[in-house]
Amino acid sequence: MDNNEVSKQLYEYFEFSGITFSSPLHSLELLEWLKDFDMDPDIPLIVSYPKSGTNWVQQMTSLILANGNIDSVKDKILKYRAPWIEFVPFKPGDVDYQLLTTHLNYQMVPSSAKNRKTKIIYVARNPKDVIVSFYHYHNCHQYLKTPKDFSEFLEQFVEGNVIYGSWFDHIRDWYSHKDELDMLFVTYEDMQKDIRSVIEKVASFLNKKLDGETLESIVDHCTFAYMKTNPATNYRAALQHINHDIGNFFRKGTVGDWKNHFLVAQNEWFDSIYQKMMAEFPLKLVYDFSSVSNEQ
Ligand code: A3P
Repeated sequence: MDNNEVSKQLYEYFEFSGITFSSPLHSLELLEWLKDFDMDPDIPLIVSYPKSGTNWVQQMTSLILANGNIDSVKDKILKYRAPWIEFVPFKPGDVDYQLLTTHLNYQMVPSSAKNRKTKIIYVARNPKDVIVSFYHYHNCHQYLKTPKDFSEFLEQFVEGNVIYGSWFDHIRDWYSHKDELDMLFVTYEDMQKDIRSVIEKVASFLNKKLDGETLESIVDHCTFAYMKTNPATNYRAALQHINHDIGNFFRKGTVGDWKNHFLVAQNEWFDSIYQKMMAEFPLKLVYDFSSVSNEQ
């Protein structure tokens, strides 16, 4: 156990339906209760594996839902605009939200969300950048086990031995059910490449019309620089369980940082695992904007 781990607050990993969770972030009672949570079909749901750009999509979507009145929403802390259903102490009705969020896998999301009435926005990111982002997040998060080093974390991630389980299962399961759901699939890399068109796509999916001025304003409020410095989005004051001296939500915000962490052998090993696990997966995720050969 290193010094960073020693200085962490009390937390306990536990299993639910074969997936690892961390108390007090999560609780068995809430996860159990969620099975029968009757979701309001008018409230869209953002779904992602951790560190895929969830906060970015929460910001974008909550501003789209503001019907042009961005000032009425932008200073409200993101977690109240788009609460996570599985984070203690989620209770519908306690806060005024127009949007919900989850990192849960397909099986664990309330069945009421899987009836084609709930609009689901799935956010995906290339797994190598997810691993790097998640690794750094474990170091600064009070309720996540500090990995010994990157290599150990990489192995745990590939085995699905991390909170929320396997990235491979998460994306494959959600994607395989897309035709039974009212689901829009967006990627972190698409947002990096052309945020404007992703905002337009999400707005159209939610049946919202954006005038040019509102669109530009949403673009401005979604930049990395804005979100990193804004108290409503950066969680500096709002989340006590992040050690902000070590890291935070807005770390680098780039595509391809994995190249600064993966050794050549680790990269080759991961690629071979990916090929096996994702052989049937039809989408090509982008790993690097500068070289097509790095696309899987
Ligand atoms: P990095 O750790 O690679 O920087 P999540 O919101 O799912 O926890 O994902 C966090 C990741 O999204 C972090 O990645 C964070 O920097 C990135 N991110 C959040 N807002 C962003 C923005 N406006 N532009 C680019 N990246 C953003």
